[in-house]
Amino acid sequence: MPIDTSSFPTDFVWGAATASYQIEGAAHADGRGESVWDRFCATPGKVRNGDNGAIACDFYHRYRDDIALMRELGLDAFRFSIAWPRVLPEGRGSVNAQGLDFYDRLVDELLGNGIAPFVTLFHWDTPQVLEDLGGWPARDTVDAFAEYVDVVSARLGDRVGHWITHNEPWVVSWVGHGWGHHAPGRQSEADALATGHHLLLSHGRAVEILRRNAPGSHVGITLNLDTPYAASDSPEDAAAALWVDGLHNRWFLDPLFRGAYPDDMAEAWREIMPEIRDGDLETISTPIDFLGVNNYTSPLVSADSNGGRSQIVRRNDVDRTDMGWEVVPDGLHDLLLRLDRDYSPNAIYVTENGAAYADVRDHDGMVRDPERQAYLEAYLAAAARAVANGVPLRGYFAWSLLDNFEWAWGYWKRFGLIYIDYATLERVPKGSFYWYRDFVAAQRVRAESEEAA
Ligand code: FCB
Repeated sequence: MPIDTSSFPTDFVWGAATASYQIEGAAHADGRGESVWDRFCATPGKVRNGDNGAIACDFYHRYRDDIALMRELGLDAFRFSIAWPRVLPEGRGSVNAQGLDFYDRLVDELLGNGIAPFVTLFHWDTPQVLEDLGGWPARDTVDAFAEYVDVVSARLGDRVGHWITHNEPWVVSWVGHGWGHHAPGRQSEADALATGHHLLLSHGRAVEILRRNAPGSHVGITLNLDTPYAASDSPEDAAAALWVDGLHNRWFLDPLFRGAYPDDMAEAWREIMPEIRDGDLETISTPIDFLGVNNYTSPLVSADSNGGRSQIVRRNDVDRTDMGWEVVPDGLHDLLLRLDRDYSPNAIYVTENGAAYADVRDHDGMVRDPERQAYLEAYLAAAARAVANGVPLRGYFAWSLLDNFEWAWGYWKRFGLIYIDYATLERVPKGSFYWYRDFVAAQRVRAESEEAA
C-alpha cells in the first residue's frame, strides 16, 4: 500500500523505541540495584515461562553494535529509557557512578552517529527499595523521583534534547497496581488511582527540574491512548465508550492539559479518590513541549450485559497481531485529530507503534515478516492523513528496535525490527527492518529535494 507522505514536515523525526528493563540485561552489573521487575519476575507464576530481564538483549554490553544497526536503519532518533536502579540503587541518596556513566557513553555514542537521544526517565523499573517503602501509591516516591531526575538531567542535560518523564502511567496504575498483571503486582483500585496521581505529580515536578538542568530541551510525557468506538448508536453503548475514554485517555489528558480530573470519572471513583493537595494540579499541568502517544489498537465498546460499566466487543472483520490486538489504523488517525482538537498540544510524537508476530528464521537464516511491514504501512498511512489534516505530528518511533522482554509475556512476543536469537544473542534484521530503512531513506530524499526547491 503506498503511503502519501507528502504531508510530513521535512524535519519529521524517524525513530525506533526501546525500554531499559526490556533490552539492557546486565541486571547485576556495575552496582545496579534491584527493580520491581526483577522481583516480579522472580515471583513464581507472574511472568510466562519464568522469563526475566537478567540478560535480555544484553544491550548494556552490546549498545555500540546496536547503534551501528540503528545507523544502517537510518534513524534520526532513538528512544530508550534510563534504569532508575542503575543510577540510584537505593532509590535516592547515593549515586552509582558506573550506572550513570553507562548512559553518558550511550548518549555520546548516539550523538557521534548522528542519532538524537529521546530519553524516557521512567519506563516501569522502580527501585525495589522504594516499593518496599510504599511505592508509587505513597507520596514520598514523588520526591524520590524528583531527586533521580535531578541527578540524571544534571549529567545528561547538556546533550539530550528530548525528555519523556513517564511512559504510560495508565499501565503502571491499572495493570501494575489495580489488577496485578505487571510489577509490583498489587490489586487495589485505590492504589491504582494514587499511583496515577503520583506519577502525574512527579511528571510536573520533573518538568520544572528539566527546565532548570536542561534549558532549551524539549520535555513531554508519553501516554498510551486510543479511540474507543461505540459499538452502536444506542445511548448505552455511547456511555460505555465514554467510560473507556475516561479510563484510558481523559483521566490523564485532562489534568495534564486542563489542570483538572474529569468530573464524571472523579464522581464514579469518589470513594477511592487519592489525596489531592493544593497546588498538585497546577504542578501537573505545567506546560510541556510535546505529548508522546503510544498507540497499538483501539477498542470497540458496548454496554456491559453483566452489569459493569463497559465491555470490549471482539471485531471479526480486522486482522490481529500475535498479542491478539486488533489492527485498527483509523483509530490512530482519529486519536491524533481528537488530541489536536480537544487538547492542542504544541507537538505530538508517536513514541510507540508496532506489532508482535510469531517470527521465525527461515532455512536461509532470514526473518520474513510481511505482516509487520503491512501493519507499519497502514499505521503510517493513518498518521500521514492526520498530518495532512493539520495535526502537529513531529515524529514517529517504531516499537521496537529489537525483539525484547515483553513484560508478563516474557520473550514469547516479538515486536522487533531486528530479531534476537536468544540462545546466542545474535541480531538478525527482519524484512521490516529493510523496509523501514528504505522508507526512511526515501523520506530523507523527499525532504532534501523539498528544501532545495
Ligand atoms: C507498551 C509498552 C512497551 C511495550 C509495548 C508493546 O505498553 O510501553 O514497553 O511493551 O507496549
